[in-house]
Amino acid sequence: MTSNFKTGFTDPRIHGAYDRVGCEKIRKMVYDHVVEKKPKRIIEFGAWNGLSAVLLAQGLRDLFFYNNDFKNIRDASFYNELFDENSKKVTKGTDSLILKCEEDCNNPTELFLYDLYWDSVSQNGNLKNVYANLKEYNCLGTTNIKFEKRDFYEWIKAPEQFDILHLDIHNSAQVIEKAYYALEDQIEKGSIILIEGGHSGIHWRDYESLKYKLKYFSCLVEDIKPGLSIIKKQKGV
Ligand SMILES: C[S@@+](CC[C@H](N)C(=O)[O-])C[C@H]1O[C@@H](n2cnc3c(N)ncnc32)[C@H](O)[C@@H]1O
Repeated sequence: MTSNFKTGFTDPRIHGAYDRVGCEKIRKMVYDHVVEKKPKRIIEFGAWNGLSAVLLAQGLRDLFFYNNDFKNIRDASFYNELFDENSKKVTKGTDSLILKCEEDCNNPTELFLYDLYWDSVSQNGNLKNVYANLKEYNCLGTTNIKFEKRDFYEWIKAPEQFDILHLDIHNSAQVIEKAYYALEDQIEKGSIILIEGGHSGIHWRDYESLKYKLKYFSCLVEDIKPGLSIIKKQKGV
């Protein structure tokens, strides 16, 4: 079974980090970074209900249609059985789950969705909601999506390659600084880190200090909570 579905940015209605009034520009900005950067691999740490995952996945989906002349792709319900059979292994941390994109496509991309807690408690990762939201916003079948239980602090000891990292694990200046130094070589090579939190999202004095401490750190949105920051090598620096 196949489905025809809408591409282009759809502003998601999902309870999450960037769901406050005024955050529309942050949501669109996350999507735009994907479309502009044309990443092969995006890694996200901190999923909750999947708001940022959907923004990232929509960008990858639109790159898929840019690179391929698929008119139809298989219906999202294709993945239901696989998801139901394997979701417990993800929440327990015994295995990962990969939802593959259409075979034989050009330039297949990857989206790794990592969370330390897939237990659906409070703002922790809620695997069912993330899956349902990816499905609702037409994000299945156009990128290889991996779900896994991973601790960011363990991961940075031997980090995987990425083109974009979206970091949203109850960020603080200390978290950002740790990420920066652990991932410096990838940043030098052009990988970027999008960071939930900006001037109003993390303690402002800590944030101010980051601007001076970290060469490539800057804030994209500071007037709307929670803000959005970026670590990106500047040309000529
Ligand atoms: C604020 S929520 C993420 C919000 C989400 N990005 C959104 O767009 O709505 C923070 C997430 O970070 C996860 N988390 C907290 N500490 C973590 C760690 N050390 N490694 C990985 N994930 C972590 C939590 O389980 C939770 O899902």
